[in-house]
Amino acid sequence: MLYGELPKKSDLQRVKNKLDESFEVPDQAINLIYSLPKESETIGLMEAAFGVLAAIYNPTWEKAKNKDIAIEIVAKTATILANIYRAKEGLKPRIPQPSESLARSFLEAAFGGHVEDKKVKAMDIALILYTDHEVPASTTAGLVAASTLSDLYSCIVAALSALKGPLHGGAAEEAFKQFVEIGSPEKVDEWFKTNILDKKKRLMGFGHRVYRTFDPRGKIFKKYAEELASGNEQVKKYLDIAERLEKLGVETFSGKGVYPNTDFYSGIVFYGIGFPIYMFTGIFALSRTLGWLAHFIEYVEEQHRLIRPRALYVGPSQRDYVPLENRG
Ligand code: CMC
Repeated sequence: MLYGELPKKSDLQRVKNKLDESFEVPDQAINLIYSLPKESETIGLMEAAFGVLAAIYNPTWEKAKNKDIAIEIVAKTATILANIYRAKEGLKPRIPQPSESLARSFLEAAFGGHVEDKKVKAMDIALILYTDHEVPASTTAGLVAASTLSDLYSCIVAALSALKGPLHGGAAEEAFKQFVEIGSPEKVDEWFKTNILDKKKRLMGFGHRVYRTFDPRGKIFKKYAEELASGNEQVKKYLDIAERLEKLGVETFSGKGVYPNTDFYSGIVFYGIGFPIYMFTGIFALSRTLGWLAHFIEYVEEQHRLIRPRALYVGPSQRDYVPLENRG
């Protein structure tokens, strides 16, 4: 993702070592996460923590260093997100430890012990599926910041702000909340009629600005949701609800090119791994950080130009200034 080529063994080892030695974050960022109310929203907490890192590190752009900083940021994102979970659950701080994968290091820091292989595998797949996806709103927001030569940590804050919304990265949480609200598979049809058809509301986890068909990532998430559902009744229930809802959604909206997107099933995977809903957008952010950074670095190193859109003014051509006391 960062280097444009599959690594040689020695390159991979160097990157892995860099990742493993970069999990520490300044105490001030950890303290801030634990000092804020437990109900604090996850992406807001991530922005706050990255704001601290931007203030402390404030790195300048140097071709020889940019990619190493990117790897450091990915490692620190795992630390920040694991500790947001721990803080919100009333647990003590824990720094991820080197392991065979970022997925395992992150999960074992968050949950504080050994995590079974099938959950680590599902997390690893989520990290891959969400790594990058052209230039959605979050990448665009971060690119705008990068184009001003703002520091890489601040660019992540910009990207996080755009990811948070329910039309983008927040959609997995919203999709899953529908499943929770529905409650059981036999209630799906009634819920769909009352809440989507009658109220003319959008089905969350459906539709995409680019795809006018099934999002290929969604199919892979569904496969891992199925694996996590085997032996877990609660996950199975949400999967059954989602499958019925998917069927109704496709029957109703496919004529408009609206199909399930990647966020429809991803929440079931995150829930199956053991995370509460408030973590879903944060996990998307952890996965997407590397893709964001690759875009920012490529843009600045290869085609740097300030991104500054123009606006076409269409208002009245002239209006006289009226003093405040005369404005009625
Ligand atoms: N449910 C029902 N109808 C929909 C939906 C939906 N989720 N999405 C689009 N439509 C309809 C829309 O009402 C419109 O109908 P009409 O032509 O009759 O007015 C038509 O499809 C075209 O919609 P659009 O607004 O032009 O589509 P868009 O490309 O601007 O919207 C979207 C893309 C993702 C904002 C939208 O599909 C949406 O709001 N989806 C729900 C939120 C969601 O799941 N977001 C995740 C996006 S993918 C992953 C990511 O980026 O994080």
